[in-house]
Amino acid sequence: MKIDGVAHRSIWPAEHGRSVHIIDQTRLPHGFVTTELATLDAAATAIRDMWVRGAPLIGATAAYGLAMALARDPSDAGLAKAAALLAATRPTAINLRWALDAVTARVAPLAEDQRAAAAWAKAGEICEEDVAVNHAIGRHGLALIREIAARKRQGKGGGEPVNILTHCNAGWLATVDWGTATSPIYQAHDAGIPVHVWVDETRPRNQGAGLTAWELGRHGVPHRLVVDNAGGHLMQHGLVDMVIVGTDRTTATGDVCNKIGTYLKALAAHDNGVPFHVALPSSTIDWTVRDGLREIPIEERSGREVTHLTGLTQDGRVETVAVTPPTTEAANPAFDVTPARLVTSLITERGICAASADGLASLFPERRAA
Ligand code: MRU
Repeated sequence: MKIDGVAHRSIWPAEHGRSVHIIDQTRLPHGFVTTELATLDAAATAIRDMWVRGAPLIGATAAYGLAMALARDPSDAGLAKAAALLAATRPTAINLRWALDAVTARVAPLAEDQRAAAAWAKAGEICEEDVAVNHAIGRHGLALIREIAARKRQGKGGGEPVNILTHCNAGWLATVDWGTATSPIYQAHDAGIPVHVWVDETRPRNQGAGLTAWELGRHGVPHRLVVDNAGGHLMQHGLVDMVIVGTDRTTATGDVCNKIGTYLKALAAHDNGVPFHVALPSSTIDWTVRDGLREIPIEERSGREVTHLTGLTQDGRVETVAVTPPTTEAANPAFDVTPARLVTSLITERGICAASADGLASLFPERRAA
């Protein structure tokens, strides 16, 4: 997507083809800093410490990390050790394991001296596929936005923007490009359909305030930031036409695991008759899991993310301050699970389906057979 008119991706290979550049997302929105990752350890740190984050981008970074590891040690043992190290960096997003499995499957049958180059090529393919898949998600999701826009044009106060609420950052920064939840929004905006996005701030790490608001603003999409608890109120007053969120792992039965707080938005949407859509590449579906509540591991992060906040001071310094008494302990579950019954539809690269085993099988029949 565009930063002030210039097209950008969230990860791109260096010209010499041995390292990758990323945008250090811990520095946004107050600084645009790119960093080079050249080793397995650097890739693992970038994922663990959330320089890169968002399920698809975590997967793409891990794929390159595995390629970097194989350049140093292409043995079977080296491959298994590097894949295990990367897989342990963040437990919830399934794209991580999906990408590692894809690279492993590509290189395992090869001679050791061919493995690093093949892994590098596969990582590049994963990135290109991510861009195409997210673009397709956007095309399908665009139809949903168009429908609402057409309805609003006919109603009183015709031509009002379609109000879309989103949580966390499932934008281009969370993928290689386009984003998942934001892809339909960008495509609607680029097609001249008036849209306005309610951006949940997304405590504790503020991915909405720091990342979604930043990327929508840089691309020119109208939006307003709201505190996480405002969504229900906005929906009660008819100020949300639809919700679109991303997901870190979706079960074969349509349960959706996403950033903490997503479930509460789904409950509020259900109570107010607001459609609640989830946009996802099929690499986010965990076909081995049927019960999201019981089977998906939920990442527990440091309580310091809750007790402290980072921001820009008036004199231009980025500072971290405490918001609690020093002795307060905090719990910090990073994700929650929205049961399929609260999800209006899943928007995938193959089209839109019901959040159910049958719905998913209608788009991915090869998986039903498995
Ligand atoms: O902890 P994060 O920032 O990695 O969480 C990201 C999300 O929850 C996104 O909604 C999800 O990964 C989908 S990204 C297209």
